[in-house]
Amino acid sequence: GITRHYKFHIKMQNITRLCQTKSIVTVNGQFPGPRIIAREGDRLLIRVINNVKYNVTIHWHGVRQLRSGWADGPAYVTQCPIQTGQSYVYNFTVTGQRGTLFWHAHISWLRATLYGPIIILPKQQASYPFPQPFEEVPIIFGEWWKADMETIINEAMQTGGAPNISDAFTINGLPGPFYNCAAKDTFKLKVTPGKTYLLRMINAALNDELFFSIANHTLTVVETDAVYVKPIETKVVLITPGQSTNVLLKAKSKAPNANFLIAARPYATGPASFDNTTTAGVLEYDQPNGITTKNLPLLKPAALLPKFNDTNFVMQFNKKIRSLATAKFPAKVPKKVDRRFFFTVGLGLSPCPQNQTCQGPNNMKLAASVNNVSFVQPNVALLQAHFFNRSKGVYTTDFPANPPFKFNYTGTPPSNIMVGSGTKVVVLPFNASVEVVMQDTSIIVAESHPLHLHGFNFFVVAQGFGNFDPNKDPAKFNLVDPAERNTVGVPSGGWVAIRFLADNPGVWFMHCHLEVHTSWGLKMAWIVNDGKGPKQKLPPPPSDLPKC
Ligand code: C2O
Repeated sequence: GITRHYKFHIKMQNITRLCQTKSIVTVNGQFPGPRIIAREGDRLLIRVINNVKYNVTIHWHGVRQLRSGWADGPAYVTQCPIQTGQSYVYNFTVTGQRGTLFWHAHISWLRATLYGPIIILPKQQASYPFPQPFEEVPIIFGEWWKADMETIINEAMQTGGAPNISDAFTINGLPGPFYNCAAKDTFKLKVTPGKTYLLRMINAALNDELFFSIANHTLTVVETDAVYVKPIETKVVLITPGQSTNVLLKAKSKAPNANFLIAARPYATGPASFDNTTTAGVLEYDQPNGITTKNLPLLKPAALLPKFNDTNFVMQFNKKIRSLATAKFPAKVPKKVDRRFFFTVGLGLSPCPQNQTCQGPNNMKLAASVNNVSFVQPNVALLQAHFFNRSKGVYTTDFPANPPFKFNYTGTPPSNIMVGSGTKVVVLPFNASVEVVMQDTSIIVAESHPLHLHGFNFFVVAQGFGNFDPNKDPAKFNLVDPAERNTVGVPSGGWVAIRFLADNPGVWFMHCHLEVHTSWGLKMAWIVNDGKGPKQKLPPPPSDLPKC
């Protein structure tokens, strides 16, 4: 591979959407941010220079960061933030991966505007395991807020209530024609009849899973989270925050006398107060002489997208995703398990600070937890504390492998729904193979949670509705060609089982990729110890690693 250099100047920029101009945090003044393009095996040196008043970190979501944990980016997990006026060079090599990923800020809610695609092409001479597309088009979904998001989340955290929802969803930063004042800000996809396009889709939205569809066209899913999958033909794609999905779009062989709606809107299983609006773009064909696309009708079938709470569709869709699992692209599913975990993920309540009024039920704060532990962010980075053996007062290693008490997870919640809190981690020996069953709980509400693991891909060996049954369900695990991903939806009112090999020494965050749930504490960390071999140790930190 070669070395590629990028410069990310974090700076404020005025951007106008929905008839309102707002100063937002950007990379190089661009919104969405610039694309990172590399080939498998390349080394990336990305200098991030912070010229805004906020502390910043950038995460390269889905990049495995093999023995380069210092470049992973989550604030107070692998690094202290880059402070105003300072800079840090993220230095990592993309090994064993090719496909679509993305980068985003990983501190507070700055990722609302700080995000962009990462495109990892196959090695030179290597080809795709599907027909070579005529063109490749990144499609990154986001949200647009008229208000200042840092104010929104800081207020919500203080009062323990739910933060305000966004004002629009966006496709490549553009809300589209269904929003006031946004018709001119509409994403257009222009195609030539008969050609095949690779749409590299990324969900960078803060808080919403999305359905995606193009009127009168079938899509073929060929890759998820930068791993090739067995092709799936579908009209609708479900993509959660943190996931990326590559689809092939085959243009019709003759230019139709119409344009076609491209649409995305939420899959929502949680509280009723969610934004159910639709972001849209337009697919236009190159037309023969004399016809302008402007005058053609826009085809928008009424039932383009499933209902907002169509959990069955989502379960069926997710179950269809299978690794390619060929000799060239094998699925290296751990067959034996060294360490087994059962995690409940969901909401709960925590006490309101004295002399304060809180907005949750009974004057409590809304909280979220894994195994009833709501993660408390330390004020130094966990990775430094671990590397320099200074864990005392920073974290404890008693993260529970099982929930503290048993109940009917998908039924009537227990009467005490208070969560505990702490900065607790799980320590794993190098190369341990790990199984985690994640169970949604109906505490406060049953809800789908897109869980993201840093530092690894994991295999989604099974999923189902109801309570996981340790006696029956493991017999159904797929150890042959399960989906290999970095983000998986824990089904609303259900469970998912994953396996991964802990072959990457460092400290690795795992959290719900709905930013509101992360803020409420639905996050935890794994520590993977060094192995004995020279290629099994985390090297020391770079000299410019920011200090807290
Ligand atoms: Cu995409 Cu920890 O994040």
